[in-house]
Amino acid sequence: MFITFEGGEGSGKTTCIKRIVEILEKEGNRVVLTREPGGTPISEEIRNVILDKKNTDMDPRTEALLYAAARRQHIVQKILPSLKEGKIVISDRFLDSSLAYQGGARGLGIEEIYRVNQYATEGLEPDITFFFDIDPEEGLRRIASNAGREVNRLDVEKLAFHQTVRGAFQELAKRFPKRFVVIDAAQKPDDVFNAVLKEIHQRIRK
Ligand code: TYD
Repeated sequence: MFITFEGGEGSGKTTCIKRIVEILEKEGNRVVLTREPGGTPISEEIRNVILDKKNTDMDPRTEALLYAAARRQHIVQKILPSLKEGKIVISDRFLDSSLAYQGGARGLGIEEIYRVNQYATEGLEPDITFFFDIDPEEGLRRIASNAGREVNRLDVEKLAFHQTVRGAFQELAKRFPKRFVVIDAAQKPDDVFNAVLKEIHQRIRK
């Protein structure tokens, strides 16, 4: 099973994912936790280039291609081999982040970015995608109060950018209703965690 977590900045998805992995492993599942951009040494190097605060002059298409390139390597080297071994693969962000950020917020178009990514994914899509939905103002407030977290190049984009990202994710949830599960990320962390776990359990048992 291939599960992805998506959402805007400060939605709490990363904290929730760690708890989910812990419990799934306790229940006897073999789980691989990974993230995008990144997940393999080559993809992590590409991540450093994309998120480097120095690279303010990066062209949006360059950015989109780099995300897709990192994704390709991640799929080939980590996601597919782990799925073949029967493991549950959980990725903190995947394809839908490109559709929402590059396709939606950067204005390159969801269709166009979907097509570019087909070259990288050869059609691989998650079985479940949890979209952690939160008002960007609240998300950014959470990040600001969490001093230990690194602030990257995309975090500092303006509020309107993050609102567009949210709108794009909401559109994607409508477009892919079978795999998308929308989670109200403004809820208490325990409620968010329980909602996600319940959904995963239901699908594992099917
Ligand atoms: P990261 O520090 O991992 O952020 P988060 O904790 O919010 O997941 O940084 C990843 C950033 O890259 C985040 O701002 C979203 C962005 N991104 C894209 O724009 N397109 C993509 O395809 C992916 C995977 C991430």
